[in-house]
Amino acid sequence: MSAPKLNVAFYGIWPEMKDYVRSKMSGFHCTISGKKVSVENLKPETDILAVFVESPVTKSMINKLPKLKMIAAMSTGYDHVDIKTAKIKKIPICNVPSYGENTVAEHAFALLLGLTRKLFLSVKRVKEGVYDFHGLRGIDLKGKTIGVIGTGRIGMHVVEIAKGFEMNVLGFDPFPNKEMAKKLDFTYVSLNKLLAQSDFISLHTPLFPETYHLINKKNIKKVKPGAYIINTARGGLIDPEALVWALQSKHIAGAGLDVLEDEGFIQNEEQVISGDCTECQMKTNLMNNIIIDHPNTIVTPHNAFNSTEALRRIVDTTIENIRAFVKGETINDVTAPKKK
Ligand code: NAI
Repeated sequence: MSAPKLNVAFYGIWPEMKDYVRSKMSGFHCTISGKKVSVENLKPETDILAVFVESPVTKSMINKLPKLKMIAAMSTGYDHVDIKTAKIKKIPICNVPSYGENTVAEHAFALLLGLTRKLFLSVKRVKEGVYDFHGLRGIDLKGKTIGVIGTGRIGMHVVEIAKGFEMNVLGFDPFPNKEMAKKLDFTYVSLNKLLAQSDFISLHTPLFPETYHLINKKNIKKVKPGAYIINTARGGLIDPEALVWALQSKHIAGAGLDVLEDEGFIQNEEQVISGDCTECQMKTNLMNNIIIDHPNTIVTPHNAFNSTEALRRIVDTTIENIRAFVKGETINDVTAPKKK
């Protein structure tokens, strides 16, 4: 007798991706929802939960799924999943370690160029019928210095793109890749030196307790006056109050952000009004709105991963993760002890 089919519940799948996911999931009972996962729409029979990054998987959700065996995070970052509870329950969280180093790096440069060439203002002006370049002067990238914080997969791709623009590159990473630094001709420096010497600062480190508010009220003052800050990694890496100070005081020239701290509240402001968030989250939400409205910022809605090619790669790796887990050959488990 063959083993019973496992129940895999996918959440947050776009309509145009549903057929692709289904075509790859033969041998499983599979439900595919376009909605974010919530306590209300959980399926108690779920063996494997597959969620996109905008679906937080909380302790209470995990506790409501008695058969849950694995969580497939359809993203690189996995801070939206309650890792502590998953670890206690020995439920592996398998992520997609690489699907879009070029995709996210390209978006970082889209934000950067959008700011330096005043693209948003330029396009708006022309669409409003004003065909006039005055007041739209930008700056060159060639010869400028970009500081890359976190030189992993995405950060390293940013270095490569920056080299294409003939920029100087500084890197900061507690685990420097000296071989690549030599190959790509860039220099590792301390965080403080990077902040002080870079015309552009681009963040590419995961959000860990140690990296929370990596850019904060103290060290933002060390940022080179007139620099631009780009964040396509995680909102929690930057203290939003520090960023508001830097923008309002004109200490920095601008910020290009694809992520904001507690960005979930931007979509659900009624939660803020109804008192469904802490005082601290309320303050963060207020700061986020100031950042979004500031004339020297470009904010995109956590969209850096969102290219056609990257999405296919995400689905493919997620399904490989699921099939490997079922065979007892778990891969990409972020809860597993790190290999030395
Ligand atoms: P990766 O794991 O390849 O690289 C991360 C690098 O950060 C590593 O080299 C690591 O040593 C370094 N790092 C760790 N702690 C650090 C610290 N305190 N200071 C500086 N560097 C530190 O990760 P990858 O693939 O490059 O992704 C980076 C992050 O980008 C992800 O963790 C995720 O949060 C974010 N991301 C955002 C997306 C979006 O749509 N906006 C899409 C995909 C990823």
